[in-house]
Parts: sequence; structure tokens; C-alpha cells
Amino acid sequence: MSVNKEVKKVTTHIIQAMKSKGEKISMLTAYDYSMARILDAAGIDILLVGDSASNVMAGHETTLPITLDQMIYHAQSVVRAVQRALIVVDLPFGSYQGNSTKALSSTIKIMKESGAHAVKLEGGVEIEESVRRILSAGVPVMGHLGLTPQSIYKFGTYTVRAKEEAEAKKLIEDSKALEEMGCFAIVLEKIPAILAKQVSENITIPTIGIGAGPHTDGQVLVTHDLLGITKDFQPRFLRRYLELFDAIKAAVEQYITDVKSRDFPNEKEQY
Ligand code: KIV
Repeated sequence: MSVNKEVKKVTTHIIQAMKSKGEKISMLTAYDYSMARILDAAGIDILLVGDSASNVMAGHETTLPITLDQMIYHAQSVVRAVQRALIVVDLPFGSYQGNSTKALSSTIKIMKESGAHAVKLEGGVEIEESVRRILSAGVPVMGHLGLTPQSIYKFGTYTVRAKEEAEAKKLIEDSKALEEMGCFAIVLEKIPAILAKQVSENITIPTIGIGAGPHTDGQVLVTHDLLGITKDFQPRFLRRYLELFDAIKAAVEQYITDVKSRDFPNEKEQY
């Protein structure tokens, strides 16, 4: 696609400046070219090629099955569509845990093959070596604390995290550690609003919340949830802006009726 030179691209520095100015940061997930074009045209600040693609695009129950090559395929499609937004790609499960050399090679593969701008990893001090190694290669890193879906079998459920004091204390320490390592932002997923407020006030890098209340420096949602395409997923934190499952179903039902009744195509819709 041709590049519009007048568009000011969002960078990690701009994201940091937004926190300093008190301007909220908007982030959504994107996995394909057509949707990414719409979200970018609307002016979204950050597009996350999330490993939630495993659920939303591939129909898996968890984020664990998606592979590095599949993430790269999604990221390539998004990169081709975007002129303005900062594009962050999730390192998928198994591509970084417990092995910082692998973390760096996974990151380099994503950056080289997709053209994205940054990566996101789940975890705190336990992934320090990986985060430091990636940052030393000059790749911006976004952290992710709270409910970290790649650890679902450790947690056992998708309920709110860090309600207990010990887990809240560790989350505060982890956020400080990620800031100190050099991460440019941190996603806080499904934690009490009061804890997210404390974390956001305690660190200088932006926090982006999902189910973490109004005090984070930005908000992120899964686009298919916001648009009502994933009809059955209705957590309390989700605001649906459309009911696209119903709208698309009604349109397709009408199309089927029109085909069966020979109404489509009509005289103007042929050569
Ligand atoms: O993969 C994803 O969509 C995410 C968001 C929920 C933050 O990590």
C-alpha cells in the first residue's frame, strides 16, 4: 500500500509522552489486513497482534497452541495495512519462556519477517533475562502482568488476579522491575482497579488496562469482543459497541434468501 507521508507515525516515544501529558492511550487487537486498515483509519494508537488470535481467529480454547510462524503471518497482514499505529506483536507460548536466547531469536524472526515495531511478553522478574536480551538488540518490549493467559493452566481459571495481598505485592514489584529493565509500557489484565491505579502512579512508563479499571494510562480490548463478533464472551469489563454477530448473520440470511428466490443477481447486477 502507498505510504501517506503526512501521517505522523505513533512511536514508543509518543506513547511515553502521552502518559506524561495525561493523554489516554487507545489500543486494540488486530490480526488481519482488512480490519487493521479500519482500526488504523479510525486513529487507534497501538495495534496489538495478540496471541488471542489463537482463540478469535483459530477457535482454540486457549492461547497456547498458536505458533511463531502463525503470529508472523498475522503480523505481516497487519503491517501491510497500517500507516499510523504502533504495531506490537505477542511472543507466543513456547517462543521465549525459560530461554533468553530463544526469546531473542523469536523476536528477531518476528521483526525481520513482519516489519512490526515491538513485542509483548507475559510475566515479571522470571522473564528478566529474556526482556533484557531483547532490549539489548534494540527492540522495544511491552510487559504484561495480572491475568496472563499463557499461564492459564497454572491459574486454573480466568478470574480476576491479584486480589490477595501477596499476589498484589508481587505484581507491584514486577511492574517496577519491568520499568527498570526498560520496557516501554505494561498491559495490566483483569486486576482490581485500585491496584491498577497504584501501579500506574508508581511507575513512569504507561500502563494499558483490560479489565483493570479507569486509572490505567490506556485501555485495550480484543476488537472482536468490542464489535460483538464473539457473541458468547461477556465479561463485566467489556463494552460492546456493535452487535456484529447478529448484523452479519442477518445480512447472510438475506443473501441466502435472495439467491434461493432468484432475486440476486438482478438485471443491474450482471454484464
Ligand atoms: O492477546 C491479546 O489479545 C492480549 C490482550 C488481551 C492484551 O494480550
